[in-house]
Formats: sequence, structure tokens, C-alpha cells
Amino acid sequence: MRYWLLLLSAFTTPVFADAPNPQRQAELANMLKHDCGSCHGLPLKGGLGPSLMPDAIADKNDALLFDAIQNGRAGTAMPPWKPFLTADETHWLIQRLRQP
Ligand code: HEC
Repeated sequence: MRYWLLLLSAFTTPVFADAPNPQRQAELANMLKHDCGSCHGLPLKGGLGPSLMPDAIADKNDALLFDAIQNGRAGTAMPPWKPFLTADETHWLIQRLRQP
């Protein structure tokens, strides 16, 4: 059942209902800094990967960013994070990246 919900939320416009709990939010924030930051820079202004700062992703829609994070970009260093991030967690990360 939960599986279907996740699948559904991956293919519909993100309605941000299921925010991760505070402990998981802290883990995700940590992951952004250490894992994503190792390629996207600290702060996330770009390095091996492009800048993920709010102004840099302003013209990219959620679906594009969601796909890049979940599935990675074949042929580039960007790995798929699907094994580590649920759809809800990925949406939460995107909202966080958009916040100045
Ligand atoms: C091993 C290096 C590496 C790591 C770690 C990494 N990325 Fe990336 N990322 C890249 C590269 C390189 C690209 C550019 C791929 C391309 O050319 O399309 C990219 C692209 C992206 C994009 C698409 C940006 C755009 O402008 O289209 C997003 C979003 C993204 N990464 C988010 C993340 C997040 C979130 C994490 C951590 C969970 C992460 N990345 C970790 C290397 C990395």
C-alpha cells in the first residue's frame, strides 16, 4: 500500500503532505552538506556538479530536479539517489534547495 502511495506521488505534481520527521530532516540536511556538497560545492554553488543555489535552479521545474536526484544523470558523475531517498524526501530536499 505504502509502495503504491510512493509510486503515485512520484508521478503526480508534488503536493507536499508527507514531510519527513524532524530527525530525518536533520539527516537529510546533513546529507545535502556532505554528500551533495562533495560535488556541488559548499555552499552548493557548483563544483563538479552545477550550482544548486535557489537562483540557479529557479528556472528548472520540480520534475526535472526530481528526476536528476532520483535517477541520476547517465553518463555523468551524478549518481541515482533512489536507494537512499523516498519520493517524499526528494520533494522535501527540492523545496529546501529553493529556499534562499
Ligand atoms: C559524485 C558527484 C555528485 C554527487 C555526490 C551529487 N551530484 Fe548532483 N550532479 C552531479 C553532476 C556532475 C551533475 C550534472 C549532470 C549533467 O551534466 O546533467 C549533477 C546534477 C544534479 C542536478 C540537476 C541540476 C540541473 O541543473 O539540472 C540536481 C538537482 C542534483 N545534481 C542534485 C544532487 C543532490 C540533491 C545530491 C545529493 C543527494 C547530489 N546531486 C549529489 C554530480 C554529483
